Amino acid sequence: MLRRLHPVQPESFAFTPANLEWARGQISKYPEGRQASAIIPLLWRAQEQEGWLTRPAIEHVADMLGMAYIRALEVATFYFMFQLQPVGSVAHVQICGTTSCMICGAEELIAVCKELIAPAPHSLSKDGKFSWEEVECMGACANAPMAQIGKDYYEDLTAEKLRALIARFSKGEVPVPGPQNGRYAAEPQAGLTSLKEFESGKTQYNASAQLAVDIGDTVKRIDGTEVPILTPWLGKPKAAAKAKVAETVAAEAAPVAKPAAKAKAAAKPKAEAGEAKPRAPRAKKTDKD
Ligand code: FES
Repeated sequence: MLRRLHPVQPESFAFTPANLEWARGQISKYPEGRQASAIIPLLWRAQEQEGWLTRPAIEHVADMLGMAYIRALEVATFYFMFQLQPVGSVAHVQICGTTSCMICGAEELIAVCKELIAPAPHSLSKDGKFSWEEVECMGACANAPMAQIGKDYYEDLTAEKLRALIARFSKGEVPVPGPQNGRYAAEPQAGLTSLKEFESGKTQYNASAQLAVDIGDTVKRIDGTEVPILTPWLGKPKAAAKAKVAETVAAEAAPVAKPAAKAKAAAKPKAEAGEAKPRAPRAKKTDKD
């Protein structure tokens, strides 16, 4: 498929202040001279902010990373996850059309998109609120057929359920993502048949749906304020970081203790022998994660 930049482009692009801070954090992960390695996360964040990837955004990211525009354009036009044309102002609906979803009714979902949104993929609906496309397997085959709408998966769909979802999005609502047929996650619809002890301790929704509900970023344009920016490596005083590295190197270089010394150390109380505290028991997994 030929992927070209859209003929109509905005004048400029700028990250929001929080997205800019996030982007600088990503760049700082890489050693000097290797900043181009941050190209995909930065282009992705630009798309999350604007809904699609504009030429000014691609060039802005290239400038931030000290790259020639053509190199950033190569990346943006190669990966299908980058939308090179405007998407719906409310949501871009991605229908999985691969084997499991196709067998379970993806073609009916695509028919709904053609009817309610636009006859051709990557086109805007008349009101500009929606766009759609068919995509390859999204890894939720046990919940086929499914669609990604905004950032989240809506699973176990039928044509009627997709119609209802689009109607609710159109009204400004954000339906809870995850299975739409009453399943909690990807277990058998009639309930668990094994590992039943893992039934306890569930959150209201499965982990990914719960996270979407908690953060509330499903179809929102991301401005960087949704979750804390985690860059713990920035802010560490250099001397302390250096000392930590030296300590680790010294520990790794230390000769293995002789058996007698080991036995002596084992006889000492744990705290005295410098051992770490016993680990807390691992939390049970409660859903599909
Ligand atoms: S085939 Fe649709 S998610 Fe895998």
